[in-house]
Amino acid sequence: MFPCDFAWGAGTAAYQIEGGWQADGKGPSIWDTFCHEKGGRVFGEQDGDVGCNSYELWEQDLECIQWLGLTHYRLSLSWARLLPDGTTRHVNQKGVQYYNKVIDDLLACNVSPMVTLYHFDLPQALQDQGGWKSSDIAAIFDSYAKFCFHTFGDRVKLWITINEPYVCAKLGHEDGIHAPGLKEPGVAAYVVGHNMLRAHAMAWHSYNSFYRTKQDGAVSLAINSDWFEPSTAGCTEDISATERCFAFTLGWFAWPVFVTGDYPEVMRSAIDAQSEKLGFRGSSRLPCFSKDEPAILGTADFFALNYYTSRMVKPGGGSCGKMSMKSDRDAEEVLDPSWPLCGVSWLAVVPHGLRKLLKYIKDTFSNPAVYITENGFSQVGPLQIEDAQRSEYYKETISEVAKATQEDGVNVRGYFAWSLLDNFEWADGFSVRFGLFHVDFGDVKLSRTVYQSGREYAKTIIKYKGGR
Ligand code: NOJ
Repeated sequence: MFPCDFAWGAGTAAYQIEGGWQADGKGPSIWDTFCHEKGGRVFGEQDGDVGCNSYELWEQDLECIQWLGLTHYRLSLSWARLLPDGTTRHVNQKGVQYYNKVIDDLLACNVSPMVTLYHFDLPQALQDQGGWKSSDIAAIFDSYAKFCFHTFGDRVKLWITINEPYVCAKLGHEDGIHAPGLKEPGVAAYVVGHNMLRAHAMAWHSYNSFYRTKQDGAVSLAINSDWFEPSTAGCTEDISATERCFAFTLGWFAWPVFVTGDYPEVMRSAIDAQSEKLGFRGSSRLPCFSKDEPAILGTADFFALNYYTSRMVKPGGGSCGKMSMKSDRDAEEVLDPSWPLCGVSWLAVVPHGLRKLLKYIKDTFSNPAVYITENGFSQVGPLQIEDAQRSEYYKETISEVAKATQEDGVNVRGYFAWSLLDNFEWADGFSVRFGLFHVDFGDVKLSRTVYQSGREYAKTIIKYKGGR
């Protein structure tokens, strides 16, 4: 069914679980700042100050990982815990010790770490210098990446440079609903996305030149995408709108890295046409890559995909007169009424969308090795430890992955459920639960209890582990 070296994993991210926001010399990150600025931008004005307290309770997380029988665990490093002001001028040894312990403990239990360098939590000190909008950030990120490769790369073989650049760029700099909370529609997100690609590429080249021979690992960036489908099959306008949706999400980051070294033409022409309509003067709002910088093309050793849901698409009805990514993309997303919703409004339950998306990735990006670095199902409202619906979701989704592998020939190398634990779900705070383990945030001990879906996932792993 699955190859014997298939990675069965679950993921987390530093800000969402660690807590210890000021512990042992950690510097503040943009999420610390964003949550502490009271103003109702995060559900219930909650924050990740304590989270699941994985900074102190790591051993409990490790027990959860072992309980599930995972072969891999995806975690992210808190940049500001390692380098409090974001630069290698000052290294926080306590932060290094913490991650050394996590990595060593995992390996001692036969679990391979997949490590994300950046999962939304920029050191505040770097935000104060312009953050991801500043072109200097790429070189600063590269130094941080080299520091991590040097410090942990003897043991970490799977690296993700940046998680979901789309979300950082759009939700953080266009919509203002994620840190750093900027609302600069139609311009900033493209600049941020551009600098993230430059940063990623520089880090990949550093790994390739200085670490690959000795460390023999693999580096990529985690790209999120829904599966998009024309609202009406065969309708030309719906098909074009669907192409724009792919171009502005998956293509924005995957096209430069896997296909041409540049943005999808569909994306650039849509943005430029919109600029013209709005009388915007000056160069394209979508920046151009410089030939003097390290190439973007070819800077991924595998395709890392975060998949959650699917959308039907039709045209958006033209410009709303405002400059924004929404009007550049000019597409309306609709939910097929036959798709049930889970928890949050954006999350329609569509397991078969993942199979289609995997096939699309195989065909569009020359059959890369793929890791599904995130996939999950949320729970809101009353707590249900016996979460039959989520159990079913995982079962169905994994069977779609099996079909993609066997019937469609997609080279899927691993699957990471999101998430190991209930945790701080960004703007939704603790109101949305994605865990395979429930965390009781009302209890000082923050006790972890396995959900039914966790029990079922463990059984699935036993069933398939070792090439079955
Ligand atoms: C993607 C993000 O990487 C993760 O941090 C988040 O919790 C999940 N999506 C669910 O929204």
